[in-house]
Amino acid sequence: MKRVLIFDSGVGGLSVYQEIYTQLPSLQYIYAFDDAGFPYGELPETVLIKRTRHIVSLLVERHHIDLVVIACNTASTVVLPTLRAELTIPVVGVVPAIKPAALMSKQKAVGLLATPATVEREYTHQLIAQFASDCDVYRIGSTRLVEMAEEKLRGKSVSLDELAGILTPWQGKVDSIVLGCTHFPLIKAEIAQAFGTPVNIVDSGLAIANRVKSLLGELEAGEQSALVSNYTYNSAADPHTAALNLSLKSLNLGAVQSLNYPGF
Ligand code: DGL
Repeated sequence: MKRVLIFDSGVGGLSVYQEIYTQLPSLQYIYAFDDAGFPYGELPETVLIKRTRHIVSLLVERHHIDLVVIACNTASTVVLPTLRAELTIPVVGVVPAIKPAALMSKQKAVGLLATPATVEREYTHQLIAQFASDCDVYRIGSTRLVEMAEEKLRGKSVSLDELAGILTPWQGKVDSIVLGCTHFPLIKAEIAQAFGTPVNIVDSGLAIANRVKSLLGELEAGEQSALVSNYTYNSAADPHTAALNLSLKSLNLGAVQSLNYPGF
């Protein structure tokens, strides 16, 4: 049985986990999130790289991981070369789905919804230049949206008015929206409802799941053995995890355990 580590700053990577789990339910999953460093969209790049490297290498060793998914756009846009140089196992990253959104857009007007860091990254500028040079690409970098997804997974309802307020600048302007942060597919239905007018909403989850499948092979099809548990780790000593643990349980993930990592 293969073991996969999925990493994010918070609950966003769960949107990627869901896509992978649907296709490959027989793997063992270790989900880790760096809530002590959250939100990554507001961290300096050097700090983000250091934190990701530490947590990922610790868990790769502890759980004899076969493949790592950096299920965070903000981290993937800067950390992948370092991780790939350090680890001997495959490292899959996630980047904003600019290319399919640009292809899909009839009006050639695309909105990129991501973290404040991702909308400014050089990597993102290059993606747009390479795949959406025939489109107007509008950007919103929002940490509040990330927090709303965190709240939803802890049982709080999402305010459609607040969402509509964030999306107002794009009304009548775009016909495709890229969810360039893994937190946002968790509130995709609410985003669609708050936007009001019909719009294509594109994320990278399925592409990541397909990539993992092609790297680990079709051999892993079938149900997970009842003897196997999936684990969840966080980096902060957060005692208030009861509501989140309910969401994790519904996704077949274990309750949050703190890494208590002394490295920070
Ligand atoms: N889920 C993350 C992403 O895909 C980061 C959110 C954050 O911590 O700012 O970008």
